[in-house]
Amino acid sequence: MRIHPLDVPLKGEVRIPGDKSVTHRAVMLASIAQGDSLITDPGDGEDNVRTVEVMKQLGVEAEITDEGIRVKGVGLHGLQNPTEALDCGNSGTTARLLVGLLAGAGIEAELIGDASLSSRPMARVADPLRDLGYVVETTGDRHTLPMRTSAKRAAEENAQGTRAILKIASAQVKSCILLSGLYRNHDTQVVEPAVSRDHTERLLRAMGARVESTAHYMAPVNHAESQTLPTSQLYPGLALRGGKLEVPGDFSSAAFLIAAAIVAGERVTLRNVNTNPTRIGMLHVLERMNADISLENRRVLTTGEPVADIVVKPSKLQGTVVQGAEIPLLIDEIPVLCVLGALADGPFEIRDAKELRVKESDRVETTAEILEGMDVKVERREDGLLVHGTGKSGWNGFEIDAQHDHRVAMTAAVAGLGCVSDVKIHGAECIDISYPAFADHLISLGAKISKERNA
Ligand code: S3P
Repeated sequence: MRIHPLDVPLKGEVRIPGDKSVTHRAVMLASIAQGDSLITDPGDGEDNVRTVEVMKQLGVEAEITDEGIRVKGVGLHGLQNPTEALDCGNSGTTARLLVGLLAGAGIEAELIGDASLSSRPMARVADPLRDLGYVVETTGDRHTLPMRTSAKRAAEENAQGTRAILKIASAQVKSCILLSGLYRNHDTQVVEPAVSRDHTERLLRAMGARVESTAHYMAPVNHAESQTLPTSQLYPGLALRGGKLEVPGDFSSAAFLIAAAIVAGERVTLRNVNTNPTRIGMLHVLERMNADISLENRRVLTTGEPVADIVVKPSKLQGTVVQGAEIPLLIDEIPVLCVLGALADGPFEIRDAKELRVKESDRVETTAEILEGMDVKVERREDGLLVHGTGKSGWNGFEIDAQHDHRVAMTAAVAGLGCVSDVKIHGAECIDISYPAFADHLISLGAKISKERNA
């Protein structure tokens, strides 16, 4: 893919496609619900397709149609042992949530993935599941995929209930434990060092389960000042009901267009975007940086997710430090935020984000490579980056390999909108993992993009 310099600023409206995180959860929970579900406006990236396919291998009837994803719920105990390995592709969320569901359900299965996913850590889900008495096997010293679940339980669960204390704030790990908890007789508590996205809790509640979260968890407050650790507690006994599950637009996809509008826009409106407080950390950072962003038409969907239209107008940015409890609330947005950091007047710094190193690529490295390509000064840290903002765009064009990381490819494309010569992105087809319409949406706003693979 090639991004050419712009003739005129970006302008217009885009309806943002369905949230990847919510779609994964909706497909899994609809599968074990009673009754049928229609998941409307779902994510259409390859990761979400993987989740649909693996649920089918587990005996669930599911179909991707023009109206949405139709799922015939098999009930909590209706999943079947698959006859072949479950291929999670590039999707960490599929693998990590599913292992909890399958361990809880006592399904014998093997989970595999592509080269990138097969190098990502799985001990973070396998270890707490083992602590709860499940038999989960990972592979090799690095505890990666293939991963196996079993019908066996190594130990009787604690009659007082079950508590998992997580070392990292991770919605994937938290959700893994909560999904296994659907099959236990006692309540399940997950304690995190900081708040992570809460789509699993919202959807479980919307479908009839009882889940409680500590009060501050729900509010868009400064989590860094909270005294108690965020805790989610699932109580057993209530069946999940299928129904119409409305998926909000993905904030993590919208983030690239928000950034594009700030780099090179006049006025851009993004419709139907998820504004769940555990996802929009980037908006709070941008507010600090002096961006001109407003939210309109707020409403709440049947999945319990709030949505709004986001209006972005040009403004002059200033640098800031992003750290601590803010990090899990914007973890996927950090690469593109760093491009906005380059636009800011003064230093822009990311701290406490070691997790970046174990995403679809090592995102400290890949983000730094993009900034260096732009000829922006950047310092790599073990847990983040320091970007020396130049206060303006007009960067150098560059050439980069996306390293099979969809967010790296989209970050490079957004950077290209502020470059004075072409940006060439090798392997840009990985964008289909989360946002197949990305290039078309940018083109509809006025970007000049050649989509051909060898362009
Ligand atoms: C996700 C959680 C985050 C995020 C990922 C999706 C989810 O990962 O980076 O893209 O859907 O739960 P972690 O839980 O590892 O932080």
